[in-house]
Amino acid sequence: MEKARIAVLVSGGGTNLQAILDAQGSIINSGMVELVFSNKADAYALERAKNAGVESAVLKRKDFESNEAYDLALGNLLEEKNIDVIVLAGYLRILTEGFTKRFEKRIINIHPSLIPSFCGQDFYGLRVHEAALAKGVKVSGATVHYVNEIPDGGEIIAQKAVEVLPGDTPEILQRRIMEQAEWILLPQATEMVCKRIISER
Ligand code: GRF
Repeated sequence: MEKARIAVLVSGGGTNLQAILDAQGSIINSGMVELVFSNKADAYALERAKNAGVESAVLKRKDFESNEAYDLALGNLLEEKNIDVIVLAGYLRILTEGFTKRFEKRIINIHPSLIPSFCGQDFYGLRVHEAALAKGVKVSGATVHYVNEIPDGGEIIAQKAVEVLPGDTPEILQRRIMEQAEWILLPQATEMVCKRIISER
């Protein structure tokens, strides 16, 4: 059976991208990463793509007039490459409504908390974990969800809880959530979505 064509969108280190690349052929059987896209030319994730022999592309925001123009070009690129599934793995741009509607139910994101806690426009990176520790929650985790026009607001696909332990710093909690939830959950959810898309062909 033909595989779904996956694009992974990144802005940073790309440990979640790595988890997806490593899961190809085991957890991920219904899809293949065909493109890694970044808004940052110096993202380490691009090195990971290169090491895995995956094509990559970069578009810089400053070369476009507006967010809409940027997302239009990105959407055109993804369509040219016949991409079926778009995985946001630490992609730090908020997608415009035109883009999310164009690829409805085809974009997924990983967020490092149990949505609806500690999510939305201002919650990214360490801020999420700082907020969780400030609230004193005893459990946090990660969520994979479909992406719509509301930041972290789309339908939830999968969640995994992770314990918060005494003495945790935002950095320690971030790492534990990555190891115990994100790197497991994102490949699993990617496979689920690829499988659904193939079955709908
Ligand atoms: C992860 O914590 C992810 O949940 C969030 O951004 C971070 C990206 O890390 N959306 P990495 O680039 O995958 O290492």
